[in-house]
Amino acid sequence: MRQKETIILGIESSCDDTSAAILKNDAILSNIIAGQDVHKEYGGVVPELASRAHLQNIIPVVDAAIKKAKIKKEDIDAIAFTKGPGLLGSLIVGTSFAKTFALAMDIPLIDVNHMYGHVLAHFINDENKPMPKMPFLCLTVSGGHTQIVLIKDYLDMKIIGTTIDDAAGEAFDKAAKMLGFPYPGGPLIDKFAKNGDADKFQFAKPRVPDYNFSFSGLKTSILYFLQKQEKENPDFIKENLEDLCASIQKTIVDILLKQLEKVAKNLGIKEIAIAGGVSANSELRKRILEYQEKLDWQVYIPRFEYCTDNAAMIAITGKFMLEKELFADQSITALARMPFDADIC
Ligand code: KG4
Ligand code: ZN
Repeated sequence: MRQKETIILGIESSCDDTSAAILKNDAILSNIIAGQDVHKEYGGVVPELASRAHLQNIIPVVDAAIKKAKIKKEDIDAIAFTKGPGLLGSLIVGTSFAKTFALAMDIPLIDVNHMYGHVLAHFINDENKPMPKMPFLCLTVSGGHTQIVLIKDYLDMKIIGTTIDDAAGEAFDKAAKMLGFPYPGGPLIDKFAKNGDADKFQFAKPRVPDYNFSFSGLKTSILYFLQKQEKENPDFIKENLEDLCASIQKTIVDILLKQLEKVAKNLGIKEIAIAGGVSANSELRKRILEYQEKLDWQVYIPRFEYCTDNAAMIAITGKFMLEKELFADQSITALARMPFDADIC
């Protein structure tokens, strides 16, 4: 079944990025991502607008990925797409495209769990960058998810801890909105935090049982603090923007690393990876490297392009599923809520 050289087209459309990638064996030949500026003024992703933008983007994005990879569509051996979790309307666009492409080209169709994609992005051959050794822990932090995942094998993963309310990316974005930034505000908090004093302001940190996370208390704590300060000084945010960004960012990163350290210690695992959009955060990247020194961890951080939503991670997951002949048929449908181990283990 497996050919010497395998080319997979990956498709990702779970939220507000339309992406297509070409994977040859385990190396990426192209990874095209079209973002959607249309949501900026609304302070969050508007599902209906996202689906419409995916519809406009999908064919040009796939075309660009094929051209950049310098292949022909007839060279593609399989198509892997994000089945879920995500926004249903957005997922349906990628799913329908993938089903049609598989049918027209008579190639296998592979339905990928988006969260597996974030983790398995670490196995894209990236200029021989070292890859995590099993078993490892992955802190998967995005706009929709915050999980500590135990990976025993490529397609054998277990969630050890998860958020009981907001995701870490949501915490960044909601705090950013309170500071007056457009959506998504996470990268802007990161940018403005660079020159700020991270110890200037203190915010509530949650006490959550087991290995789980919570960010809704932090959100409320920031909101009440800002409301109180603005009553006394209407320019408070403007005058303290950099310190506020640095303090909020440090609090979120503290919350994430505290739980990760606890899991790693209790499970005796020192191979540690981060994934998802928030793993692009410079404070998280810096601090986890300090943990590497302090706790003798081996830390794996994907390059920026493979942190936020992208089709390269879907294509590499497709490769592992192709090896096990885990194919979907034409009756497959998108799933907004997709259990972590659905259709894989
Ligand atoms: O993985 P992703 O691209 O999409 C989801 O699956 O959600 O993650 C997007 C999230 C957003 O909340 C965005 O604000 C956050 O990742 N993000 C960041 C940074 N870059 C992206 N948060 C903090 N610092 C960053 N540099
Ligand atoms: Zn994601």
